[in-house]
Amino acid sequence: MRLPVRITGVGGYLPPRTLTNEELAKQVDTSDEWIFSRTGIRERHIAGPDETSSTMGIEAARVALASAEVDPADVDVIIVGTSTPDGMFPASATRIQHGIGATNAGAFDVNAACAGFLHALSAGAQYVASGSAQRVLVIGSETMSRILDWTDRGTCVLFGDGAGAVLLEYAGPDELGGIDSLLLRSDGSQASSLYADGPCTPALAGARAEAHIVMDGQAVFRSAVTGLANAAADAIAEAGLSVDDIALCIPHQANVRIIQAVAKSLSLPMDRVFVNLDRTGNTSSASIPLALAEACATGRLQPGDRILFAAFGGGLSWGAAVMQWSGVRAAHASGVPVARVTGAPTTA
Ligand code: UT7
Repeated sequence: MRLPVRITGVGGYLPPRTLTNEELAKQVDTSDEWIFSRTGIRERHIAGPDETSSTMGIEAARVALASAEVDPADVDVIIVGTSTPDGMFPASATRIQHGIGATNAGAFDVNAACAGFLHALSAGAQYVASGSAQRVLVIGSETMSRILDWTDRGTCVLFGDGAGAVLLEYAGPDELGGIDSLLLRSDGSQASSLYADGPCTPALAGARAEAHIVMDGQAVFRSAVTGLANAAADAIAEAGLSVDDIALCIPHQANVRIIQAVAKSLSLPMDRVFVNLDRTGNTSSASIPLALAEACATGRLQPGDRILFAAFGGGLSWGAAVMQWSGVRAAHASGVPVARVTGAPTTA
């Protein structure tokens, strides 16, 4: 069933400091050749000492609101997908609410690891579709660098920091936009293949919690390919469309080999698949909205295009969605896409 919801604004933020594969090779036993050939990643961005998931989310949200030409006071709900909130509580969403001056908004976080944005999008779309909210900011923001074991070469080379945001508004029957299908899946029996303990984990009680990502890379790789390919195929079928109708697939940016395998399984040519992980690494919940912001800013999307989102992460949690791109408001007005990714690409 089509949800009458469109994306009217989009923005992204990447912290200025980049960390290249060559720099990593000075810290752990790895190489640019290994990382690039196994993952497609060349570099990732790392949050500065004062940056958090909420400060980066604020930057991305400001761009999204500017591109939608919407005043922060007119936002009704803010939902943040993050597994790296500033603290246990309050929600990073409330810090973002304050930071952008969304004085009339409710705000909460959702945690579905790397699939966080898709889960937040699902929740936000229901508010708009039901009419209980007019404008919902959906954000993915992550400070993965703070939960990495920087001595574990199997994980520390994979992740990066950043934030992306979209504004959701109602799509009338005669307007472009609309979510054709959106499905979420989970399998908690595989929780131990990808997790990060925290201060409430019994084994860490009373100790100074050292929360870091633990992953069985090969198991997650296999599950990701199968889960993403099945979810994407189901979402396309549920939308009543075929792969030929998909103008651009924007998948979670974890590993280009996963993305290529999924595209092959769907018979989707890679020139219709957006990949930016070479410059971002895996930014978890932020990866899809960051990629969407870049796709929009670089002219990869035209109003009317069908987009396929597909995400996968710890939980295991995954899902896919098909929606129609309606374009962002400021881009319509000026003819120039203003949805952009901010943050200066300089190496510290
Ligand atoms: O967002 C969702 C969450 N995460 C993912 O989607 C990640 C899913 N998994 C993956 O992307 C891949 O499994 C990895 C990139 C993590 C690993 O690639 P792989 O091709 O599955 O490598 P592997 O784990 O089979 O390891 C192959 C070899 C091992 O050495 P031996 O046992 O063959 O001697 C590893 O110790 O590569 C070694 N290795 C490394 N070597 C250099 C593992 N990490 C590194 C490294 N540099 N960074």
